[in-house]
Amino acid sequence: MSARIPVLDGRHVLLGVSGSIAAFKAVALASKLTQAGALVDVALTRGAAELIRPLSFQAITHRPVYSDPFELPEDSEIGHVTVGRRAELVLVAPATAHTIARLALGLADDFLTTSVLASTAPLLIAPAMDAGMYDHPTVQEHLARLRARGAVIVEPASGHLASGLEGRGRLAEPEVLLEAACAVLGRTGDLAGWSLLVTAGGTQEPLDPVRFVGNRSSGKMGFAIAQRARDRGAQVTLISGPSALPDLYGVRMIRVTTAREMYQAVAAELPASDALLMAAAVADFRPEHAAEQKIKKSGAELVIRLVPNPDILRETRGIDGRRGRPIRVGFAAESQDLIANSRAKLEAKDLDLVVANDITQPGSGFEADTNRATLLSCDGLEELPLLPKTVLADVILDRVLALARARQR
Ligand code: CTP
Repeated sequence: MSARIPVLDGRHVLLGVSGSIAAFKAVALASKLTQAGALVDVALTRGAAELIRPLSFQAITHRPVYSDPFELPEDSEIGHVTVGRRAELVLVAPATAHTIARLALGLADDFLTTSVLASTAPLLIAPAMDAGMYDHPTVQEHLARLRARGAVIVEPASGHLASGLEGRGRLAEPEVLLEAACAVLGRTGDLAGWSLLVTAGGTQEPLDPVRFVGNRSSGKMGFAIAQRARDRGAQVTLISGPSALPDLYGVRMIRVTTAREMYQAVAAELPASDALLMAAAVADFRPEHAAEQKIKKSGAELVIRLVPNPDILRETRGIDGRRGRPIRVGFAAESQDLIANSRAKLEAKDLDLVVANDITQPGSGFEADTNRATLLSCDGLEELPLLPKTVLADVILDRVLALARARQR
């Protein structure tokens, strides 16, 4: 499966690296960006060049690495102008207090800072610094100034710092920075201006303080939809049942446990949305009573009475979204009579689109990274090949956008 990410594929990214101990993490970031298809130019500050060799980046990006402001790139124009202007995103990671100050003041004393001044691309800054420097009012003032100019700051994490101290200042992880790059580059995508509500994962229905009735849903499909929608410029709220997947950068996350909590959250968020995509595997039943104490074995049979949960799609049929009736997408996981069962859901749940999949097929189902889906709408039926869930997410979003546009006409 390709690691290419559509929003990064073929895009020019200028990765500025300044002299923090965390500079080594920028190599992993350059690698992730390159694998995603980005064309990564690297600019090292003098401090960074002391810590890490240009070759470490060059070997990964197969592109030039700049550090001297008067260096000429192959195409002979003045380097910082060429590199700054072709960049579609400038990402400074790690950004030291010193480089943040230079960027805030508009100093132009090396390749990176001059390139930033020559660039009109969005600026993403990932600070990293030690010993409480991040909380110093000067640093915060400079960041506020950069933010006011439209820069996006990826907050550093708290934890162990190189000095041995604990505090805020650890560079965000490369995975998070990759996500942030996608979110910022995606802002002008074809879903800009749309607000999507997505659900993911299974729900857990408590039996006692340690046990629950649940299912094997991983959350991968719903998370993929939320991620891709964000990369295409949508405002996304993701309501997720318990899932091992981490929060998505740039997505409003609401974590819930039970079907009833998910229902409350969907009902509360739907009026602010243009579309609802219910990828969650909601438990249809819950134990009638959740015992307050752990249920002990007694040697006798244990009978658990299950009562129905609210059907979220059914119960929200009458709720209007931001622009009237929202586009409503349901998912149907079936083990028999795929089309007939899915068509019944389309009508009963008042849906515009059903993403149906036969869970008995190889490569389809809850824990897989792929899915073979059939899309059903009132217009007909579309059988899709076996696709990675991320690619399927884009196909579903294409259909949602087409439905939304058709309705606007
Ligand atoms: N769904 C829901 N609320 C529930 C159960 C399901 O909103 N209590 C949504 C799911 O998120 C999915 C769609 O309904 O988008 C279809 O779910 P599925 O479980 O396949 O259908 P059910 O209506 O529960 O029918 P059955 O289990 O009998 O197949």
